Amino acid sequence: MANKQPNVPLLQMSGIEKSFPGVRALSGVSLKLHKGEVLALMGENGAGKSTLIKTLGGAHQPDAGTICIDGQPVKLSSPTAAIQAGIGVIYQEFNLIPALTAWENIFLGREKSGVFVARKEERRKAAELFRSLGVDIPLDVPCRQLSVAQQQLVEIAKALSQDVNILVMDEPSAALVPQEVEKLFAIIRDLQKRGIGIVYISHRLDEIFEIANTITVLRDGKYVGDAPATEMTRQKMIEMMVGRSIENEFPKQATQRGDVRLSVDGLSRGTSARNVSFDVRRGEVLGLTGLMGAGRTETARLIFGADKLEAGTISLDGKTLNIRSPQDAIKAGICLLTEDRKTQGLVLCRSVRENFGLPNLKELSTAGIVNKPKEREAFGRYVDSLSIRIPFQEQLAKNLSGGNQQKVVLAKWLQQNAEVLIFDEPTRGIDVGAKHEIYQLINQLAANGKAIIMISSELPEVIGMSDRILVMHEGRVTGEITDMSSVTQEQIMELAIG
Ligand SMILES: Nc1ncnc2c1ncn2[C@@H]1O[C@H](COP(=O)(O)OP(=O)(O)OP(=O)(O)O)[C@@H](O)[C@H]1O
Ligand SMILES: [Mg+2]
Repeated sequence: MANKQPNVPLLQMSGIEKSFPGVRALSGVSLKLHKGEVLALMGENGAGKSTLIKTLGGAHQPDAGTICIDGQPVKLSSPTAAIQAGIGVIYQEFNLIPALTAWENIFLGREKSGVFVARKEERRKAAELFRSLGVDIPLDVPCRQLSVAQQQLVEIAKALSQDVNILVMDEPSAALVPQEVEKLFAIIRDLQKRGIGIVYISHRLDEIFEIANTITVLRDGKYVGDAPATEMTRQKMIEMMVGRSIENEFPKQATQRGDVRLSVDGLSRGTSARNVSFDVRRGEVLGLTGLMGAGRTETARLIFGADKLEAGTISLDGKTLNIRSPQDAIKAGICLLTEDRKTQGLVLCRSVRENFGLPNLKELSTAGIVNKPKEREAFGRYVDSLSIRIPFQEQLAKNLSGGNQQKVVLAKWLQQNAEVLIFDEPTRGIDVGAKHEIYQLINQLAANGKAIIMISSELPEVIGMSDRILVMHEGRVTGEITDMSSVTQEQIMELAIG
């Protein structure tokens, strides 16, 4: 559809309302997007960003309000209607069918089934798409075997394969490392040149200033304001989102480092972990970083007993452990907060209270029966300290915003009172205010003598919150940085590339 009058926005959403039981997710939200514009939609976890774009993608029907494309009102009664209106949405939660391959997922719903030639053509097209994105994704393995980052790239390819005028990306970079984000930005700039309007959601503030033309902020389901990116400052944006200012984004506290608590020696499994050795001391936060597939998550899984060691030893407080399963690890006092909260972190069809209680059953039970008041009280403490946004504790996990789901997973493991905590991307998808709270929590854990491994792709976070940094590449530790006063992002990237 051509946009004849230059002043008519490509997309105009006005007075959008949406409520769920106990939650007013959107109250009178408006938004304007022009051709070739990148609009950053900002707000805390639960502010209503995903809900707003779900009404645009035809996944939710707004209770009130209008949506106009090129000045014409449209009714987006289903995802298909939205695609037909030229709207592509990359959702925060992936919609990939785990059993299908990447290319089957990309053409799902549009495939010419049974026609061998057509299928071959689709596979070829998918390969071409990945090439144009500059990514290397195995074509013929089921998506469930792909990493979170790879799945995200498949989602992006899927949206790009549809002919869209408006492309919405709900936290597309959450699982990506800096290099991949750069590739994504190159794609966005190219789409922009072609006149496509883009709505971009991210909790990584650096990205917003790099890619966005305009910034729109929501808070508590309400429109707070918008401004051209050039007129916005980081502090001002944080204030608009959180409603208060945050002085120091990385409030790292110096702690007294004590004896070695966790020691791993020669951890190996295939090519993903090769002879990985390191120690973590009492009170220490060890940052572990690297590119996608560098072996960080694999190392964590080996320590946690989620994957079987081919070689190597793990010891805690000088005692060698025999960890064969996560149960063994938990018993020994080692916890892992996984990066993939959707499949490994939460039972989505259960309440958040139950999810919290699950690994803590013994502690929260009396004579074998779950002590619900005790569970509720314990969970309530985390709801307060982590600002988890829920109308009631019986809310189903699947109804929480992405960032709030992550906080529930965090609460669940913190309650374990482990001695060694491994956080795999702890602040992925978490808003700037809550990040600050999580950093303070990590400080507190360190001050209490815990040993902490923080896996993160977000370099400012790794630099800002670690006492020491290990960098991995292709399953090996390629560097160690101990002087945190002089470390730079470039220095880490060099080690990460190998
Ligand atoms: N299907 C649903 N049922 C009940 N409540 C819902 C549902 N979907 C969203 N909500 C609620 O609506 C509010 C807005 O959620 P939304 O997912 O839009 O937030 P968000 O801004 O995308 O947050 P995040 O940054 O964490 O992704 C939240 O309080 C959330 O719990
Ligand atoms: Mg969201």
